[in-house]
Amino acid sequence: MRIDILTLFPDMIRPIVGQSILHRAQVDGHVDIHVHDYREYSTDKHRSVDDYPYGGGAGMVLRVEPVVRALRDLDDERQALRILMTPQGIPYSQERARTLAKNERIIILCGHYEGYDERIRDYFDVEISIGDYILTGGEIAAMVVVDSLVRLIPGVLNNEDSAKEDSFSAGLLEYPQYTRPRVFEGRAVPEVLLSGDHGKIEAWRKEQALMRTKKRRPDLYEDYLKRKDNKSR
Ligand SMILES: C[S@@+](CC[C@H](N)C(=O)[O-])C[C@H]1O[C@@H](n2cnc3c(N)ncnc32)[C@H](O)[C@@H]1O
Repeated sequence: MRIDILTLFPDMIRPIVGQSILHRAQVDGHVDIHVHDYREYSTDKHRSVDDYPYGGGAGMVLRVEPVVRALRDLDDERQALRILMTPQGIPYSQERARTLAKNERIIILCGHYEGYDERIRDYFDVEISIGDYILTGGEIAAMVVVDSLVRLIPGVLNNEDSAKEDSFSAGLLEYPQYTRPRVFEGRAVPEVLLSGDHGKIEAWRKEQALMRTKKRRPDLYEDYLKRKDNKSR
């Protein structure tokens, strides 16, 4: 997969994509991540990419020309899935990450300023929000998307099963985990995990995942039950 990230702050992105799993995924050839400063696509002498809003109002608006110039330079044949980061987009989820991970090419635009010239939206395929709050710019949001989808590309994680068991993967939160010591300040690891009986361990984990989801995320639990019910019909 190739990912192009358009940003005004490449230095916010580079350290993140240069670490940990994102770094290893690039070294191992699973993903190719390119970071571009779209100020480079401005043609005025101050290299500005924003302007005052028509009709007045607070803040500046990102102009359409530099963005479209960047898109034409990187994706003239429109082969990439183009993602616009915005709090007005579709709420991001693990399911969306799974869908995105199937693309060969992705371009992500990190916004800034008060907003986008509305015409920018016509050049993108999907608008994504990472939650109902306002960030200063799209960089952190884009990193959330890139990190979550890259770990789903086959071969990126050493142990593919760990992604399958992560919270949300099966529509439930993950079961509780323990490691050594067996007893800490009087609190012991559940006996079943020491039993060596894989069937029992699996059943316990499933039950714990269900109980935990029901308690912490009743909305997810209801969806899970509905999906299960539909499947069994
Ligand atoms: C200060 S915000 C502008 C918000 C805009 N005034 C609005 O209400 O939609 C600047 C940029 O940060 C990014 N951003 C902020 N919050 C976000 C969120 N929750 N999800 C995704 N991107 C976000 C977007 O790229 C946005 O264009």
